[in-house]
Amino acid sequence: MASSPDGTRATEGFFGRRRGRPVGLNQAAILLDGLKRNRLELAAPAPADLRDLFPVQVSSVRLEIGFGGGEHLLHALDAEPGAGFIGVEPFVNGMAKLMMRLDETPRPNLRVYDDDAIRVLEWLPAGSLERIDLFYPDPWPKKKHWKRRFVSRQNLDRFSRVLRHGGVFRFASDIDSYVNWTLLHCRAHPDFEWLAVEAAGWHQPFGNWPGTRYEAKALREGRRPAYLGFRRL
Ligand SMILES: C[S@@+](CC[C@H](N)C(=O)[O-])C[C@H]1O[C@@H](n2cnc3c(N)ncnc32)[C@H](O)[C@@H]1O
Repeated sequence: MASSPDGTRATEGFFGRRRGRPVGLNQAAILLDGLKRNRLELAAPAPADLRDLFPVQVSSVRLEIGFGGGEHLLHALDAEPGAGFIGVEPFVNGMAKLMMRLDETPRPNLRVYDDDAIRVLEWLPAGSLERIDLFYPDPWPKKKHWKRRFVSRQNLDRFSRVLRHGGVFRFASDIDSYVNWTLLHCRAHPDFEWLAVEAAGWHQPFGNWPGTRYEAKALREGRRPAYLGFRRL
């Protein structure tokens, strides 16, 4: 199990790489400054009204888990400036990339966290989110690693607690076994209802969809993504 960067606690849900290519000095400075300004402080309790996390008025709050290079998150921030977003990404290079973009154009409707999203899920007040996005999570295709997949009964319980009634969990993946896995887990969970009307709808991207870097790679390599939505009952 990976340990957290501050060494305080092992993480439960993160098994991936924390670093890729070395981050340059300028980028490191922007990353540190960006985290100082935008990082969630989980040592303090969450505000009772989660919208108070943001310096601007927002109508509701959404969470993106594992935003990678931030392509979808940046698009959503600009497409929906009236909504608040929390982006979580433990991979340093991904967070650094997002912070470079924020340095060019600050977005007051964003807060970030640079470690395991399970910590954020545990910290959030019940019923505080309108949406949770999990796009192209690490697929862990080998059966012996399936237990590492982010979608699990335990994490769906966490999603169920933090989503408001009627809130939505959105999932995308190019790995068929993970798509089936997610469908089965959500179907078995009493609090989630699949939003698809017919199976053909699986391959239809969500509305106003910008794509992601990982998705582009999957398409280049000939894999066909699926897009699933589940309503919190
Ligand atoms: C395959 S990449 C996909 C990135 C992006 N969503 C995309 O579509 O390009 C999966 C991402 O999830 C992140 N991740 C893995 N476990 C996580 C966890 N427990 N909490 C938050 N992010 C996590 C990884 O660091 C990685 O960047």
